[in-house]
Amino acid sequence: MHLHIPSQFLQSRIVSQPLYRRPRCSHMAAIAPIGPQLSQPPLSHPPPSKLTTVKALSESSGLSSIPSIYTFPKQPNHEPVSDTKEPIPTIDFSLLISSNPDERSKTIRELGKACGDWGFFMVTNHGVPERMMKAMIEVCREFFELTEEEKGECEGKHVLDPIRYGTSFNPSVDKILYWRDYLKIFQHPAFHSPSNPPSFREIALEYSKRTRGVMKEIVRGISESLGLEDKYIEKASNLENCLQIMIANLYPSCPQPELAMGLPAHSDHGLLTLLIQNDTVGLQVLHKDKWVNIHPIPNSFLANIGDHIEILSNRKYKSVLHRAVVNDRDARISIALAHGPAMDAAVSPAPMLLEDGQNPLAYRAMKYKEYVELQQSNKLDGKSCLEHIRNRGI
Ligand code: OGA
Ligand code: NI
Repeated sequence: MHLHIPSQFLQSRIVSQPLYRRPRCSHMAAIAPIGPQLSQPPLSHPPPSKLTTVKALSESSGLSSIPSIYTFPKQPNHEPVSDTKEPIPTIDFSLLISSNPDERSKTIRELGKACGDWGFFMVTNHGVPERMMKAMIEVCREFFELTEEEKGECEGKHVLDPIRYGTSFNPSVDKILYWRDYLKIFQHPAFHSPSNPPSFREIALEYSKRTRGVMKEIVRGISESLGLEDKYIEKASNLENCLQIMIANLYPSCPQPELAMGLPAHSDHGLLTLLIQNDTVGLQVLHKDKWVNIHPIPNSFLANIGDHIEILSNRKYKSVLHRAVVNDRDARISIALAHGPAMDAAVSPAPMLLEDGQNPLAYRAMKYKEYVELQQSNKLDGKSCLEHIRNRGI
């Protein structure tokens, strides 16, 4: 493992700065992009195995301060509040799938309110066994414990490679590095798995299936809560072939947590993310202009709606900014299962939500595959991808 990261990173960034903006396809070339200019960097990311991971850095002996490349600028407007009196909403999944119509419609109303007010909610009684969730976290921990050489087999070269192990978010464009290592795996429509640890495949296959089942029911509920047919979102986004990505995040303990950032403020690109974590907190959600620490109920999923619900609902439900902070005591592991439309689906706002002419079409359609590629190839920057496809001035 190379421990001289700062110069190494600086060097790799000099060679791989985005030099030009490459149109993704003739459609995008023809339409002048609206909103912030995002760039497609050349595909020469430095291979993660040649970069120092945060895990290796945090384990290097005598580390009492962080390299300056990890020092994150303060955002004075968004002071964190440690805890909020207003807890994030909880949805009882067993009532969402209840055969009692009153229970179900009450839960759908609560779900709609949770999406509108917070964009984040906890999901209890979801039926995924606790031991399966724990096994998933444990096998991800084991993955991160492998040698860098072993993990290096999972390094990806392109942001759409089905298995990608790396550090920070996108080191070829990150000006500041995030205190985070990750493993990203495409699990649907085709299931992929690292070959090590040997039990990863079996645990992840089952977990991804069960999680998709939960996602589908929640998406049906969201559809109904918008006044749409329960299968509207499912059909519009071709959920049969949904892109499901597992993102395992490792945030090692950090000697100067107040200076570093695990993941900066961002929204998720898909429809619905279901997240679990070990016992360490670190997720913050922007709610009413304040960062709120989230303390999940044990054995629950933390769910959040992504940009594609904002698109489909024509901004009735908005994807919510969230970030991960780090601490100087314990390593944190989180596993997010991000569910989006099929890769070749180009989702638009539901016409029924524009009916009265009061709500002009807020977004133009972009193929999900291109949207993911755009988000993953640039620096992680709030909701800049959504802004990119926003129709303005109508
Ligand atoms: C993500 C994410 C938050 C966390 O992976 O998209 O927002 O708590 N993770 O790790
Ligand atoms: Ni996220």
